[in-house]
Amino acid sequence: MTTLSTIGAGNIGFNVAKAAVQAGYDVVLSNSRGPETLADKVAELGERARAATVEEAAAAGDMVLVAVPLHAIDQVPGDALVGKIVIDANNYYPQRDERIQALDTNALTTSELVQAHLKAARIVKAFNHIYAAQIPTDGQPAGSDGRRALAVAGDDAEAKARVVEFLDTLGFDAVDLGPLSESWRIERDTPGYGPRMTAAELADVTAGTERIKQL
Ligand SMILES: NC(=O)c1ccc[n+]([C@@H]2O[C@H](COP(=O)([O-])OP(=O)(O)OC[C@H]3O[C@@H](n4cnc5c(N)ncnc54)[C@H](OP(=O)(O)O)[C@@H]3O)[C@@H](O)[C@H]2O)c1
Repeated sequence: MTTLSTIGAGNIGFNVAKAAVQAGYDVVLSNSRGPETLADKVAELGERARAATVEEAAAAGDMVLVAVPLHAIDQVPGDALVGKIVIDANNYYPQRDERIQALDTNALTTSELVQAHLKAARIVKAFNHIYAAQIPTDGQPAGSDGRRALAVAGDDAEAKARVVEFLDTLGFDAVDLGPLSESWRIERDTPGYGPRMTAAELADVTAGTERIKQL
């Protein structure tokens, strides 16, 4: 992989892009207001970064990070992401996103909802449980004592393996939670959501997590 694109260039989109640039990737940022509104962020990221429309960014990325408020997921164009490895960093905050019945009833995980919208994308959940600003600062070389781990989940094994490799190049171990249906183990308000943990700690905590009742 050489190019990471982002749909959403806010806290998460920008900080994953920053970490990717540090690791030697090219990045393409996009948002809802258009590439001209991203000039300052592109300048901050330097030569490896550019901005584009959502459709152009989707086409350019070997992987595409989707990091938007969940209520905007319906506006992300599924047609532009057919066959793409899509990293889903999104979380459900009812006070921001309004109530979504399928999530309130635990009929779906957040990532299953994203997959239902982006039908032909290869969704891998990652980066949803780390504070955005820590993404470019917390990475360490493989094998470092106390290396931080991030959870991944996905139904496409090859896509998930590629995202695990990407995380490694950014300086993080990975803990595989299994398919998207198991990704509730790292959703908002779970014990693994937020704190820094090693792979052993995160695996232990997520295995013992009980599903949150949303309502
Ligand atoms: N902040 C964190 O530390 C953190 C950590 C983990 C996960 N998350 C999750 O990651 C997601 C993004 O959070 P954030 O903090 O990065 O949000 P944010 O700072 O508010 O940024 C949201 C980004 O999404 C873009 N956007 C909104 N609607 C769009 C659309 N229809 N098409 C394309 N881009 C669109 C916005 O662009 P415009 O400004 O042009 O509208 C903006 O660049 C959320 O689901 C959040 O829960 C956040």
